[in-house]
Amino acid sequence: MLVLGIESSCDETAAAVVSDGRRILSNVVASQVDLHALYGGVVPEIASRKHMEAILPVIDRSLEEAGVSLDDIEGVAATRGPGLIGSVLVGLSAAKAIAFAREIPFVGVNHIAGHIAAIFLEEKVPPFPFTALVVSGGHTNIYTVEDFDRMRLLGQTRDDAAGEAFDKAAKMLGLGYPGGVIIDRLAEQGDAERIRFPRPMKNSPDFSFSGLKTALLSYLKQCGEPPTQDDIPHVVASFQQAIIDVLVEKTIRAAGDCPGGAVVVAGGVAANRRLRQCFREACEADGLDLYIPSPALCTDNAAMIAAYGTRLLEKGIVHSFDLNALSRWPVGMD
Ligand code: KG4
Ligand code: ZN
Repeated sequence: MLVLGIESSCDETAAAVVSDGRRILSNVVASQVDLHALYGGVVPEIASRKHMEAILPVIDRSLEEAGVSLDDIEGVAATRGPGLIGSVLVGLSAAKAIAFAREIPFVGVNHIAGHIAAIFLEEKVPPFPFTALVVSGGHTNIYTVEDFDRMRLLGQTRDDAAGEAFDKAAKMLGLGYPGGVIIDRLAEQGDAERIRFPRPMKNSPDFSFSGLKTALLSYLKQCGEPPTQDDIPHVVASFQQAIIDVLVEKTIRAAGDCPGGAVVVAGGVAANRRLRQCFREACEADGLDLYIPSPALCTDNAAMIAAYGTRLLEKGIVHSFDLNALSRWPVGMD
């Protein structure tokens, strides 16, 4: 089945063509990051307007790069939420219009579940059930995944998401936006043991990262002067390690209670190199099989939406054109 996937929930306008939910024929992502960087974060109104400009050219390019036309497309999947509502609506409306005009099935999918489904685009796929950690700019959630349409939430953040913590820390240190990638790079030259930041909510399945942000702020205040160019790598490496330690520990603990023994890590923050390394080491030590999508499939893209949409369409899940967009939408409540 050849499916066109569309993603527009935040600041990336993306379209992809995927065959049988497995093989990527094209995966086009138009990022608005440079525009939002001027404001230090995503400006929702600007994002919607940019999606409007980009959506049709991006879809055209995805078809062209896949070497197919709309005549070949057998289904359309788009992100229905969660996300910025004005942004989600642009991709969702485009998907409905195409499906209506071509008389092909349409399905609106959950963005977080899409992140998890990205792993099914890789060569090696996990067996069900598995434990999944989704770490992105908006979410830090742990699930037991029994099937594509059966995901049970085990823990989530009570305040900031992990990606948000990276972004806010980078902003505090005047490093720019988006913070995750910048910190990933700078931390490489830093000593992660230099500053001991807290590892919050130790005994809970839930996360909390806002205290960590406050700890960074207190550290900076206590230093008096802004950190020097030489100090910054140590500060960000220590901060990054505090986030990673908590993510690894809670995910491994959850996986211990899951019969499958496989762990999937997905979402934008899963592109972080140190995080990938720490998960590899921890899973190896505990005899767990680890699956992390390649970095380009961790950050927002439409191939994951097409992959997930295909699995739902195969299960006979098709939506009508009055399906609304959702700004909040917990996985498992489809
Ligand atoms: O999944 P995603 O692309 O969008 C959302 O659904 O939110 O995740 C974006 C988040 C941002 O907070 C960004 O800073 C973070 O993922 N991120 C990273 C890295 N690449 C992206 N965080 C840490 N290290 C990275 N290499
Ligand atoms: Zn995302």
